[in-house]
Amino acid sequence: MNTLDGTNIPVHEPERQFYYIEKAKKYVAKKAKEIGRDLTFTVTTFGCQMNARDSEKLVGILEQIGYVEEADEEKADFVIYNTCTVRENANQRVYGRLGQLGHIKKSKPHMMIGLCGCMMQEPEVVEKLKKSYRFVDLIFGTHNIYKFAELIATRFESNRMVIDIWKDTDQIVEDLPSERKFAFKSGVNIMFGCNNFCSYCIVPYVRGRERSRNPKDILREIEKLVADGVVEIMLLGQNVNSYGKNLEHPITFAQLLQEIEKIEGLERIRFMTSHPKDLSDELIEVMKHSDKICKHLHLPVQSGSSRILEKMNRRYTKEQYLELVNKIKTAVPDISLTTDIIVGFPGETEEDFLETMDVVKQVRYDSAFTFIYSKRTGTPAAAMDDQVPADVIKDRFDRLLKEVQSISAEVCSVHTGTTQKALIESVNDHDASLVTGRLSNNILVHLPGDASYIGQIVDVHLKECHGFYYTGEISR
Ligand code: SAH
Ligand code: SF4
Ligand code: F3S
Repeated sequence: MNTLDGTNIPVHEPERQFYYIEKAKKYVAKKAKEIGRDLTFTVTTFGCQMNARDSEKLVGILEQIGYVEEADEEKADFVIYNTCTVRENANQRVYGRLGQLGHIKKSKPHMMIGLCGCMMQEPEVVEKLKKSYRFVDLIFGTHNIYKFAELIATRFESNRMVIDIWKDTDQIVEDLPSERKFAFKSGVNIMFGCNNFCSYCIVPYVRGRERSRNPKDILREIEKLVADGVVEIMLLGQNVNSYGKNLEHPITFAQLLQEIEKIEGLERIRFMTSHPKDLSDELIEVMKHSDKICKHLHLPVQSGSSRILEKMNRRYTKEQYLELVNKIKTAVPDISLTTDIIVGFPGETEEDFLETMDVVKQVRYDSAFTFIYSKRTGTPAAAMDDQVPADVIKDRFDRLLKEVQSISAEVCSVHTGTTQKALIESVNDHDASLVTGRLSNNILVHLPGDASYIGQIVDVHLKECHGFYYTGEISR
């Protein structure tokens, strides 16, 4: 396209975005000159690992165009909220904090506020923002975050609220800049979207249909990360077990893992999330023989009642789930299993709940995320008429949490006295003479050390278990 100033705007991606990065850079530099210092930004992430990874992409673009990261949201010139809408309370938190930002902006007119992520894919949310939060500068969704530089440039040029939301996309744009929160580990998207439509869940509506990245692109990204010092990767997708099914040359998730395993210098491979209905024998076999795949599987059960599971559209029964767990435990005896559980799905009776408790007792999870069912407008479950009263849910939730916690303390402590490899991730928040490492099974251990240990994999003697973490020392 020819523009008035004679430049050609590239039509194809990622070239188009590199063009806009340069353009936005000029606007940022101009503004910085005006105010006499660098412009700063804060990206605040709500929600899951997928959002966290998206935020790293936003940070990558912001840094390319000349913004400098600022830890304190109140001081930043550009505040971005990458939002989540999986449960209602996630939305409430965003509105609350946005109100505060509005006040800050009144005394700092050049400040910009950007909103993106899953909440923005809901038309009611955008309507509400347009009506009651006029001070927001930029609103975009989950499908076009790669256009961030272009949207920023547009905002600088228009001086009005810029809104760009796509309903869905089949596009995956590769090779854009991205930052990493940690030097030694990184999330890697292997697929986007979800096709499962569990009846309570809003994710398929806000993240669109399932799209797998090309294996070559994934391998290339990981190779680059490893060359840059990364030793652990987390493969990300809403349902990694169905990876590759809709590619032009289909490959399975297990095959992808085997390819990734060959990358020299990569030490640890994690992945999430696994949907039980798609977890194959092939994957169990690959995990069993792998040196790099971590001994941890997050396998959300959601409910232990086959009747509720059917209403949830999970497409497995309690028995099938337990059989799968047995198969995995037999093949990989030291595996750590974690899960997600929803309490109070419409129509859940005390008997249904006791089935969930039974699964928890049988599987003995290392840890479990427990959620109170949240009604999401537009999902099939929201229209189900037998919603469970709040006090009943609360009582069940408390009982479940107690059970989960007491089992996880027991399960966690079985490694006491052993020596295991830990990847040292950080200096301990509360005690600077300690560092914190992560074991293959995802359990944390605190041990004496300093910042020079960060990023190293060391042998740690696990001295004492404190419920869900260990204290230990380097074993020499
Ligand atoms: N794709 C993943 C989960 C993504 S959402 C999977 O299928 O396992 C993360 C968790 O949030 C879900 O596992 C579920 O336990 C919970 N969740 C999703 N929708 C919810 C709702 N409406 N109310 C309460 N919890 C919900
Ligand atoms: Fe939601 Fe189910 Fe998809 Fe997970 S698999 S994101 S719970 S619809
Ligand atoms: Fe939330 Fe979106 Fe993740 S709704 S859980 S941030 S996919």
